[in-house]
Amino acid sequence: MTGSPPTCLVTGASTGLGLAITRLLLDNGYPVVATARPRSMDRFAEQGLVEDPGRLWLRPLDVTELVHRERLVDEIEHELGGLGVLINNAGVSYRAVVEHVSPQDRIAQMNVNFQSPMSLARLALPGMRARCWGRIIHVSSVGGMMAMPTMCVYSASKFALEGASEALWYEVRPWGIGVSLVQPGFINSDGYQNTFDTPQAARALSDPRDPYHAHYTHMGGFIGQLMKRTWATPESVARKVLWTIRHPDPPLRVPATFDASLFGWMRRLLPRGVYHRLLYAMLPGVGAWGPASEMPALEEGESGEVKAG
Ligand SMILES: NC(=O)c1ccc[n+]([C@@H]2O[C@H](COP(=O)([O-])OP(=O)(O)OC[C@H]3O[C@@H](n4cnc5c(N)ncnc54)[C@H](OP(=O)(O)O)[C@@H]3O)[C@@H](O)[C@H]2O)c1
Repeated sequence: MTGSPPTCLVTGASTGLGLAITRLLLDNGYPVVATARPRSMDRFAEQGLVEDPGRLWLRPLDVTELVHRERLVDEIEHELGGLGVLINNAGVSYRAVVEHVSPQDRIAQMNVNFQSPMSLARLALPGMRARCWGRIIHVSSVGGMMAMPTMCVYSASKFALEGASEALWYEVRPWGIGVSLVQPGFINSDGYQNTFDTPQAARALSDPRDPYHAHYTHMGGFIGQLMKRTWATPESVARKVLWTIRHPDPPLRVPATFDASLFGWMRRLLPRGVYHRLLYAMLPGVGAWGPASEMPALEEGESGEVKAG
């Protein structure tokens, strides 16, 4: 794209990664529409971000509200110069084993992390196609390439985002529109503190007699530690987002942290059955989960071994 920098829309911009992306884009001369849920709008002022028309617009956007989505994209298209870059960053992370996810929990998780970003992309596309240029950046996760116990519905939402984005990458490439999945692994941020335990998961966590109690305590401690120890920060991941926007032909998948690259390679190189058993063996305290001897059976054809002819 030549000429002035494109207008960028960032969702979930008042905290964490969204805030870091917003600051980096502003520092690099991009006009930004920074959005947050109505109840979180005050955070912008607390972070020193104030409306500066032509440079920064602050708008309420609960991504799950269709009216909010439509009104905002319409305003950007007609009054703020057109939407050049859509950054779907807002996300929530539900923590629960499969048995502790109700249909309502499942829908709520999918709504924020999958249905709403795709709906925003759908609204953004007509303008991008008309201008024959655009960037759609979906903040995915290592959880979108590998699933972890207790994070089933989060992974499902990011796997869905990855699948739909992959299809979209092919569909809109002829118009010069780049679709990318920026995949952070663990980030040294408050993100994990915002994890939502489903009601059944919360009960299991506080009840040592619950069959899944050990799953939650071990996985919770493990993920918390990894998030504290990692070098990756919201700022380092934001730099990957900027790199993706600037790339003349951005890749579909952009691993944004060291562990994301590592797990990506492991998944590509190891036979799937070996990979799953290796990860199972590495799970924290897994010997204390359920009956100690239990190992998941491999499905037919999953072993990765070549059968003798
Ligand atoms: N932190 C990590 O280690 C990590 C790893 C991999 C991927 N990610 C992904 O990175 C993205 C940003 O996460 P983060 O680490 O920055 O977490 P965070 O600090 O919890 O930020 C999440 C943001 O999403 C917003 N949000 C949640 N529901 C929303 C809704 N319905 N409408 C609009 N905004 C909503 C939150 O707003 P409120 O404050 O109003 O709730 C918040 O601003 C997410 O997509 C997440 O899945 C994070």
